[in-house]
Amino acid sequence: KLRVLSGVQPTGSLHLGNYLGAIAQWTAAQDTYDSRFCIVDLHAITVPHDAKTLSADTIDAAATYLACGIDPAKASIFVQSHVRAHTELTWLLNCITPVGWLERMIQYKEKAVKQGDSVGVGLFGYPVLMAADILLYQADLVPVGEDQRQHLELARDIARRFNDLYRVKRSKGLVMREPKALILDAGARVMALDDGTSKMSKSAPNDGSRINLVDSADVIARKVKRCKTDMGVGLTFSDPSRPECRNLLTIYAAVTGGRSAEEVEAEVGGFRWGEFKPRLAEALIAHLSPIQARHAELSAEPGYLYDILRRGAEEANEAAEVTLEGVKRRMGFVLPK
Ligand code: TYM
Repeated sequence: KLRVLSGVQPTGSLHLGNYLGAIAQWTAAQDTYDSRFCIVDLHAITVPHDAKTLSADTIDAAATYLACGIDPAKASIFVQSHVRAHTELTWLLNCITPVGWLERMIQYKEKAVKQGDSVGVGLFGYPVLMAADILLYQADLVPVGEDQRQHLELARDIARRFNDLYRVKRSKGLVMREPKALILDAGARVMALDDGTSKMSKSAPNDGSRINLVDSADVIARKVKRCKTDMGVGLTFSDPSRPECRNLLTIYAAVTGGRSAEEVEAEVGGFRWGEFKPRLAEALIAHLSPIQARHAELSAEPGYLYDILRRGAEEANEAAEVTLEGVKRRMGFVLPK
């Protein structure tokens, strides 16, 4: 069975981009693959974070995973910091990763600009920690949004470099598997509601630019009503000069059962914005409200959530220790007898 690993940072409420780009794919993956889904709290502290909200956000992310359909009977769900091997493997990989590789990372450059002087070493090393998350479980496939493609390439490069550097004959140590990004066309890049050329993101100051998974029906209706549109006639996926149009149709297609562009254009291609917007809002609300109901139920049962995370961490720890030992053996460390 192929192995899958993915994760989301617990930084406030997750949004439609996280859902369509990542979590919605995970629910399909868990039926076919040996899957692990991680809440990457160590990544969440690479930018200034609020110590008062991190733990609640982490538990909330677990509730969101489950509410979106991740089934603890099929996949393991755990908190990254509960498995110490993530940090330990990161150090080992740090020592074989050229600084130049990290300097090329687009997300680092974007985030570093925003932070000015206060960029931490952790933000620079973020992609190595992400590589460790993946390589620790020898994952074959990593379902993510388009924005993570470069980080996945780096994880492959690091795996290959490890294999090249420690090519010990008859060594008992392990050979790293090279992971592949699993990026679907639909939903891989959900754009902001106020600008069809920038991606929907948690950190954008305007809350109206994103649909949060916990937004109420009223809030969703209002955000859709106010979202940016254009003067074009009719609605189409294929006009590159109309990014908002393409984005809103893509969202509509995704939340109405993942329909094709042709099908959606046949339904609403002749609509005016004023007709389409209420229909989009309604579809979003219909899609998200069962998830929200389940999320509310789960949030009322923290004991249940902690239980799942404990079991997930136990399972993950066992798998991670095996890899870590193989890596250390291969790198020449003396292992305790
Ligand atoms: P994060 O929390 O920033 O994003 C989580 C997932 O959501 C996807 N995503 C989007 N997809 C489509 N449209 C958008 N507007 C959008 N915004 C976010 C991201 O691509 C991602 O899949 N570095 C990772 C977290 C991570 C990870 C890992 C992922 C840490 N370790 C190991 C996979 C495997 C991240 O971007 O988190």
